[in-house]
Formats: sequence, C-alpha cells, structure tokens
Amino acid sequence: MIVIKDIQEMQQWSTARKKEGKTIGFVPTMGYLHSGHLSLVKAARSKSDVSVVSSFVNPTQFAPNEDYDRYPRDFDRDKNLLETLGNDVLFFPDRNAMYPLDYETFVVTEKMATLWEGKTRPTHFRGVCTVVTKLMMIVQPDKMHMGQKDIQQCAILRRMIIDLNIPVELVIEPIIREIDGLAMSSRNVYLNPEERKAALVLSHSIFLAEQLIQQGEKDAQVIIAKMKSLIESEPLARLDYIALMNMDNLEPVSVIKSPLAIALAVYIGIIRLIDNVIIR
Ligand code: PAF
Repeated sequence: MIVIKDIQEMQQWSTARKKEGKTIGFVPTMGYLHSGHLSLVKAARSKSDVSVVSSFVNPTQFAPNEDYDRYPRDFDRDKNLLETLGNDVLFFPDRNAMYPLDYETFVVTEKMATLWEGKTRPTHFRGVCTVVTKLMMIVQPDKMHMGQKDIQQCAILRRMIIDLNIPVELVIEPIIREIDGLAMSSRNVYLNPEERKAALVLSHSIFLAEQLIQQGEKDAQVIIAKMKSLIESEPLARLDYIALMNMDNLEPVSVIKSPLAIALAVYIGIIRLIDNVIIR
C-alpha cells in the first residue's frame, strides 16, 4: 500500500490508473478505523480494480462546540489494518492543504441538511458535502462506498451527486453491529462500561420499531411513542430525535409505507450516538 499526502500526487495516481483502464473504489473516512470501515474497504476491493481510502478529520463538519480536537486518531494502527486488507492507497492530506487560509467555497444541500441531524448540527452537512466533493475531485473514483449507519449523510450525498452530475456511483453498505447489537462507531471508544451498556437502548429501540412494523403497526406516532418510552427507561440516555422518514427527501412520514428509514440520535452521557434501519 502506498501512502499519499500530496493532493496533486493523488490526482496523478488516479489519472494514471484510469488511463490503464482500471476502476477505482473509494472509501472516505476520518480515520480511527473499526470493522464497519473495514467492511467498506473489502466491498471497495471486491467491486473495483483498485481501492483508495482517505483518512482526514474534516474540521468543517465539526461545530466549535464539537469534538474535533478530541476526535480519536491513530494513523499507524489504521495503516496496518489497511495493509492487511491489501488496500492500494491511503490518502492522508494535510488540513492546510485541504483548507488553505484563503479557502472560501462550500457545497450545500438547501433543505435536507436542515432536517434531523441538521437541527442540532446546522453546519455539519455543509462540511460533509464540501469535503466529499473535494475528495471526489481528487480521488476521481468510479464507486464510493459509505456506511448506512450515517443514513442522512448517505441520502444527502446521493442527492448532491445527482444534482451536481458527479460521475460517481454511491454504494451504501449495511450497518455493522457489535455482537450485542450496538452499531459500530469511532465514538464508541468514549463510552465507559456503564455507558456502553446503556448505549444498547439505541439498537433495542430500532429493533422494537422493526418488530412493531412486522406486527402490522402503520401509525408512525405509535411507533415513535413506544421507542421514546423505551429510551426514557434508560437513566443515562437523553433522546435527541426519532425520525420515521422518506428515504429520498428525508421528510417525516405519518403512515408506514416502505421504503422508509427509521433513525434516531441519543445522548449517552455526553456522547451522541446514532442508529437506523431501512424498512423495505
Ligand atoms: O462519515 C464520515 O466519516 C465523514 O463524514 C466523511 C464522509 C469521511 C467526510 O468527512
């Protein structure tokens, strides 16, 4: 595996592979890789000729009160994991190269970025759309692999790719869970043992919603109320939102009709976790 730091060198590498007729599979990450990321890398390797993983903790998607400085980082560990998988390139750009002092261009989806996650994180998706656009311009992938765990991010990036006619296929890969059901996330490392146990309330309420729908429940408000009371039964949990939403535009639905997504965000202590399921 080669590690590329320089933006132009990354562009030249990708251009050379394209000239050879090779397809490029791309996994954008903020590093501190877990099994969820590794499953994306495996998918990229199996569906394209060569694979590129970027590792960049993107400052523009963190609000000043969020955890940019605290965000976990371990370059050597990530590099070893990617080498084991046979990944071709690890792109590891500098913050100043990605955002020089005179930087001023941002990419925004107008409405979808204001819903759900956008309510507590109003500038988050502007940062995500901007950095992913930049990364796609640099890496020039044929396919970009992302995890369903960040379902709003996937829906917004899919919209952005369509709206801006970007010639990249977005491939959404399933959520990878710990054995007890907790969705894998780099933020799980912040949980102490008591909080780690309490965090199961997210997957349990997702599974409860799925079960209610399987039993024929059609009223979104009934499902939300039952999920809410389960979350409230956990003393360390504080609900941010529960969304039963249309997968394409993220608008709330009142009557269950597939395909829809059920997503939620819950604070466990001060750690904010998310989870979701797609009902087909
Ligand atoms: O999902 C993430 O890790 C980030 O939002 C992404 C897509 C790498 C952009 O910084």
